[in-house]
Amino acid sequence: MDKKISQAVIRRLPRYYRYLGELLDDGVERISSNDLSKRMHVTASQIRQDLNNFGGFGQQGYGYNVAYLHEEIGNILGVHDTHNVIVIGAGNLGQAIAGYVKFERVGFKIIGLFDVNPELKGKMVRDLPVQMLEDLPEFIKNNDVEIAALTLPKSNAKATALKLVSLGVHAIWNFAHVDLDDIPDVVIENVHLSDSLMQLSYNITQHKNK
Ligand code: NAI
Repeated sequence: MDKKISQAVIRRLPRYYRYLGELLDDGVERISSNDLSKRMHVTASQIRQDLNNFGGFGQQGYGYNVAYLHEEIGNILGVHDTHNVIVIGAGNLGQAIAGYVKFERVGFKIIGLFDVNPELKGKMVRDLPVQMLEDLPEFIKNNDVEIAALTLPKSNAKATALKLVSLGVHAIWNFAHVDLDDIPDVVIENVHLSDSLMQLSYNITQHKNK
């Protein structure tokens, strides 16, 4: 696809994918943009605009074929490919992520979990033993690692990211409380649950003042 899609649209696609998956589970075969809009609380014109970025997928008077749209959005998001993921930092969050089975359903397979704390060495999280960071270069050499999740203290995040890039990992899912956005040759997604909580807190205040 040559056309550059805005990040705002890309950020909305997983939600479309999720709703369409639910429709599929409910046996719905086609849906109009108006009905999808009611379900998703997004305007129908926004839906049409978003999906037009990818050639539309809809047909006048028919609406959208749910299975087809789900499949196509899945293709765009790359969820039909398998992405191997390693988790760096096997504390509370790292273990929670490594232990969550459903990422695999959308193509993300966690294949390794690393830490520097020798007390964690060999601890099983689901079917993965915690390995020591010094074994990472060898592991990356022998496995097709695409993404590294960083669930370690922010003080170690940048150095670890640089090391991962030098070892050939070019996508980072960063949970450490620092925005890693000045590292070349790597795609980074910074995730901050606290940003979402602060948005919630703002909306609570707005709601109370109504
Ligand atoms: P934790 O203290 O339970 O785990 C951190 C782990 O990282 C420890 O096991 C530690 O030994 C390991 N570690 C330290 N340096 C390392 C290195 N260089 N390489 C590999 N492992 C290393 O902390 P928790 O609660 O799991 O949080 C992890 C990180 O995620 C923290 O930075 C925390 O602030 C952040 N966090 C971010 C959230 C978000 O929404 N972005 C939500 C919750 C936590």
